[in-house]
Amino acid sequence: MKSDILNIAVIGYGYWGPNLARNFFAAGANVAYVVDKDEKRLASAKRAYPMVEVTSDIDNALRDTNVDAVAIALPVSFHYQIARMALLADKHVLVEKPMTESRQSAEELIELALRKNKVIMCDHTFLYTGAVKKIHTLISENALGQLQYFDSIRINLGLFQNDVNVIWDLAPHDISILYYISGEQPVSVSAAGLSHTKNSIENIAYLSIFYQSNFIAHINVSWVSPVKIRRTMIGGKSKTIIYDDVEPTEKVKIYDSGYTVSNDEKNMFMVDYRVGDIYIPKLDTTEALKNMAQSFCDAVTKSIKPESDYSLALKVVTLLESAEKSLKNNGKEYKL
Ligand SMILES: NC(=O)c1ccc[n+]([C@@H]2O[C@H](COP(=O)([O-])OP(=O)(O)OC[C@H]3O[C@@H](n4cnc5c(N)ncnc54)[C@H](O)[C@@H]3O)[C@@H](O)[C@H]2O)c1
Repeated sequence: MKSDILNIAVIGYGYWGPNLARNFFAAGANVAYVVDKDEKRLASAKRAYPMVEVTSDIDNALRDTNVDAVAIALPVSFHYQIARMALLADKHVLVEKPMTESRQSAEELIELALRKNKVIMCDHTFLYTGAVKKIHTLISENALGQLQYFDSIRINLGLFQNDVNVIWDLAPHDISILYYISGEQPVSVSAAGLSHTKNSIENIAYLSIFYQSNFIAHINVSWVSPVKIRRTMIGGKSKTIIYDDVEPTEKVKIYDSGYTVSNDEKNMFMVDYRVGDIYIPKLDTTEALKNMAQSFCDAVTKSIKPESDYSLALKVVTLLESAEKSLKNNGKEYKL
């Protein structure tokens, strides 16, 4: 680094790029360049940040030795190519989720970053939310008892992507959360889904993820739901969390309800139900992307390992790739 402040080029200034730029400034970094092929997007960046260099030529940012890092918010099909160019130009790389479109390309990027001694990290934003951080803490303190299931619905109307299906677009959120909170490696995945459009890109899908222990996960993602639902249920042996990300404040609720199973004197199967209190914890309300941007800066300047480091990002891509194979093969179970 040539200065005390990390100089970043944000590449891609469509929907998500402006959020990255704003939060890198909030985290104390400097956005030196905004790159986009669309002149209107560049004009918008210039209006918001008159001191930022805007360009449609990525090489302008990559050639500038004052630029320490790039943050890539391009469509998924460009992630590998542009991240590789940035690493070859000796830049640290933050890439949007999912890291790449295949396990092999993710592994290549990681290997290149390690060889170049550069950070490569993926923005799995949800790991930096107050809600998911709280759930992670509760599970690590064994507040739910042994984990039994994870059941997630992430559906809304649009945005249809034209380079990846709904699994690659929306399921990275759930899969990254799942890896982060469960800490357990899944053994296999099975997926079903359909395209209702002419381009054969699936717009609705259901993933089942299997584990060695008594834990199972299910994820439903869709671009065709008239209502937006973001609800995850995480069941443990003693308590259950309901995480509703659409709720403005009370996003996480812990239900102290459950059941115990026993046999009576005639050896008949008996279930006792217990309905207890509901506890609503206070959550950190810092914007997740600010935490993520800070985490990237800390990885570059202080070598602090981020939550969404390259190994988690690789696991997410690996699972997505197997889920897609399963989806194309009528739900066949694929080992991970
Ligand atoms: N972390 C999250 O919660 C989250 C949310 C939304 C999107 N994303 C991710 O962000 C990325 C971008 O998504 P988006 O919704 O902002 O897409 P978008 O289509 O709105 O924006 C992409 C921008 O990239 C520009 N672009 C495309 N190809 C280019 C090229 N070759 N050179 C320069 N500019 C180019 C386009 O002009 C556009 O402005 C995707 O990887 C997506 O998965 C992440």
